[in-house]
Amino acid sequence: MITGKTAVVGIMGDPVQHSLSPPMHNAAFKHLKMDYIYVPFQVRPENLASAIAGARSMGIKGLNITIPHKREVIKYLDEIGQAAQLIGAVNTLKFRKNTLTGFNTDGLGAVKAIEEVTPVKGKKIIIIGAGGAARAVSFQSLLAGAGEVLIANRTLENACKLTDDLGQNFATSVGCLGLDDKLVEELKDTDVLINTTPVGMHPHEDQKPIVTSSMMHRDLVVNDIVYNPLKTGLIREAEKAGAKTINGTRMLIYQGMESFRIWTGINPPFKVFEEAIMKGLGYVS
Ligand code: ATR
Repeated sequence: MITGKTAVVGIMGDPVQHSLSPPMHNAAFKHLKMDYIYVPFQVRPENLASAIAGARSMGIKGLNITIPHKREVIKYLDEIGQAAQLIGAVNTLKFRKNTLTGFNTDGLGAVKAIEEVTPVKGKKIIIIGAGGAARAVSFQSLLAGAGEVLIANRTLENACKLTDDLGQNFATSVGCLGLDDKLVEELKDTDVLINTTPVGMHPHEDQKPIVTSSMMHRDLVVNDIVYNPLKTGLIREAEKAGAKTINGTRMLIYQGMESFRIWTGINPPFKVFEEAIMKGLGYVS
């Protein structure tokens, strides 16, 4: 029941109608019998400043920030976490008395998903794509101690721009490549492959994956951050090659769990988040 004491958290973005975060967090609050509610706020770009000021004055405890505000919101913060600073994007806000702090849990979500299967420390990782998601995942992989990170992208220039930024912040070996024979060669001794592009995402399930089974090996761990469909073309190819697979719901669950922990100090149950996502996606009733 919502009372005068109920704490409010939520998500700010445009659009927000299809976000899976409200069912996920509300399921956990209910399960843990916590007096919190998570609500969606659709905020247009021109209203971001007033929305943040409003959230501060209304005593909102925390927010997730999504497209198109993840970069823009930084200018309204009092403090920023290390990963968010490096990535240059924020997906979680924590409001305290006079301090608004921004965090990024997207990359951490991906690293935690991979670490269900293998530790990232010392590993050779190839990330396909060079957009916002690739940026979060690559910086966080380096923060987690990856041994080598390669960015493979359709537009080589975009991959190299990202590796320049990575190289300026870490001494770890980083490199950029196109989606060509060089990628096939590099895959031979790679430990982890992460797709951050929308290739294979609904309604384009039939799109040919960028990496196919003949380019993979049995010890490779393959993570597709696309979660609709659950089994993307890339995940099917990985299964064919006998590689270990991680579907896109994992990153979504772990980034949400981390935000929940930032707001409440409580570690939410994975299973409750997972069940809410699977229901939200229509995979279970
Ligand atoms: P996000 O913020 O979700 O990461 P984005 O910033 O739009 O999304 O980035 C999308 C990434 O997917 C880009 O790296 C893009 O490649 P380009 O830099 O060449 O544009 C990549 N991408 C999108 N569609 C693709 C496709 N059909 N084949 C290969 N790469 C694709």
